Amino acid sequence: MSTKVLTLVGSLRAGSVNRQLAETAVLAAGDDVEIAIFDGIGHIPFYNEDIDVEGSVPEAAADLRAAAASSDAILLVCPEYNGTMPAVLKNAIDWLSRPFGTSAISGTPAAVIGSAFGQFGGVWAHDDARKSLGIAGARVVEDARLSIGGSVTRFAEIHPKDDDEIMGQLRDIISTLAEETAPSAA
Ligand SMILES: Cc1cc2nc3c(=O)[nH]c(=O)nc-3n(C[C@H](O)[C@H](O)[C@H](O)COP(=O)(O)O)c2cc1C
Repeated sequence: MSTKVLTLVGSLRAGSVNRQLAETAVLAAGDDVEIAIFDGIGHIPFYNEDIDVEGSVPEAAADLRAAAASSDAILLVCPEYNGTMPAVLKNAIDWLSRPFGTSAISGTPAAVIGSAFGQFGGVWAHDDARKSLGIAGARVVEDARLSIGGSVTRFAEIHPKDDDEIMGQLRDIISTLAEETAPSAA
């Protein structure tokens, strides 16, 4: 049985480097790991407890929760916006965090990677995303991390899938994350 990894991309733009990284993760995964990129993240309304009640949960948020519930692990692919993660990702984490303690990501292994323009590759955003995921109840895999600097320049002429160094790093991250889904790793 393959390990299912739900992948959330924190950029909505068509030419997103982080989207390309997520696509590269799909290719880098071994036969025993299935990486699924969640497409509806931009359609999820801002989290609001008033609508997080039976019968009122927006379809896109319900879809996200269902996708998380049927996954073994979570991978966030995250740029940095103004020193932290983009709002679209934080909003997804907020929806995934409830009901607190019994949510779809409670205890789920989760890793954060991504690329940003600055030389540190979005490490502030990635640290914040790890912190938020952990508070939301996920089991953050600290060893599976990658922050790639110079996003726009490094991948101006080359898709990350054609970059051997990135492919190798993603292979390692995916297998570290998948190992954390083994029953003995919990
Ligand atoms: C609103 C906004 C804020 C940004 N803030 C930062 C930042 O704080 N640090 C950084 O390294 N890059 C920052 N950038 C640059 C992005 O990280 C860079 O454009 C990245 O490639 C965007 O991800 P994408 O290619 O997946 O869309 C910012 C970009 C935008 C649009």
